[in-house]
Amino acid sequence: MTLLDTSQSGDDALKAVFARELERVRDRSHGLTVDVLDVDELLAQHSRLMSPLVWDLAHVGNYEELWLLRAAAGLEAMRPELDDIYDAFEHPRSERPTLPLLPPSQAMSYLGQVRSKVLDALDTMPLDPANPLLDKGFVYAMVVQHEHQHDETMLATHQLRRGATVLGDVPPPAAPAPPLPHEVLVPGGPFTMGTSDDGWAYDNERPAHEVFVPAFHLDSAPVTNRAYLSFVESGGYDQPRWWSHAGWEWRTASGKRRPAFWLREGGEPLRRRFGRVEPLPLDQPVQHVCYHEADAYARWAGKRLPTEAEWEKAASWDPVTRTKRRYPWGDADPTSEHANLGQRHHQPAEVGAYPAGVSAYGVHQLVGDVWEWTSSGFEGYPGFRSFPYKEYSEVFFGGDYRMLRGGSWASDHTAVRTTFRNWDHPVRRQIFAGFRCARDAAPGEGR
Ligand code: AVJ
Ligand code: FE
Repeated sequence: MTLLDTSQSGDDALKAVFARELERVRDRSHGLTVDVLDVDELLAQHSRLMSPLVWDLAHVGNYEELWLLRAAAGLEAMRPELDDIYDAFEHPRSERPTLPLLPPSQAMSYLGQVRSKVLDALDTMPLDPANPLLDKGFVYAMVVQHEHQHDETMLATHQLRRGATVLGDVPPPAAPAPPLPHEVLVPGGPFTMGTSDDGWAYDNERPAHEVFVPAFHLDSAPVTNRAYLSFVESGGYDQPRWWSHAGWEWRTASGKRRPAFWLREGGEPLRRRFGRVEPLPLDQPVQHVCYHEADAYARWAGKRLPTEAEWEKAASWDPVTRTKRRYPWGDADPTSEHANLGQRHHQPAEVGAYPAGVSAYGVHQLVGDVWEWTSSGFEGYPGFRSFPYKEYSEVFFGGDYRMLRGGSWASDHTAVRTTFRNWDHPVRRQIFAGFRCARDAAPGEGR
């Protein structure tokens, strides 16, 4: 049993977990906003792709009020005029700076007022199994994860921001000496995709269902900066044959010729990371590539991107016991030995740096370091039911999105698991995303 295993815990133990996690995520949000930036920087729009940081901050408070205090606890709206301003569907990110945003001090007092009522509710309101929002504390888990997701988004804003960084920089661990094998073979056969019993799972991860996955090879680690640099240097960005039709359109219209934040000075490859220019670490996974770039690299390498089902099978399936794991290494809560998660470091670690985190098939770093692009679009699983609102997942089904798996160094461990599904437009590069490649097994292999 683990602390995150909501099915095995009594109400008091669960409530203690949620109280601790609510406090931990708020400390994290403060550390990305009011603790480190002045009022002007909090209100500024650092990129048209992103919200002003103070929008994210007040939005997480408004979301917490909406779902915990109003939907679950039945309280009246505290500030009804805020709902429109902080509704992500009403206002695209580019127009959020023009809204009458709460200045940082007022945002802070609003967040504090919401939070103190939430802690009262946590004390007094039973986790009523008859109320699906409260059963096993679902809505608390949802609110905690939502804030962590926005914290990761705020880190992308920090990366786009100009000027000296205000963030810490603890170096990630180096990889132990032995080089990784290049690929693993995942034999063909069924596995259980998704979950029906993880208390932290969103609607789009449900229900658990069997999927037959034909035998395939998967890279044992994410594609490195070194490998991606060979693609760039071999002229990969000039050769339409490596690109899909949509990918080549993106490539030519955007004029991009290398991952975001890569620079070059006197022949040396460099990158800009949170305001610092530094040598490109060749053994780290490449990050800040869009789906089209990942797809083009894979074709150049004679491979392809994995599907979501392939990724999840390689990450979660134990072929010996025929059971599913919450994390590649098993069901134990992540530690600093398992994966690069939770903004402990502000960059990916070298490939091979987490031998304790390998999956049953021997695949490294499926969770943490970089989100991994897959070839799949966003659809509901068979038997999908929207809960608690269509705007979390369902409205995006069938849209112009590709799925991302595994979380990044910026993802909190409460907001990542082998079933977790993320999605973004195929042109997005500011997120902490990389990829690994797959290829079909030859006939007879892995059967
Ligand atoms: C799941 C990361 C795609 O940030 O757009 C945040 C999560 N939903 N607020 C996003 C989300 C509502 C979402 N992603
Ligand atoms: Fe949100």
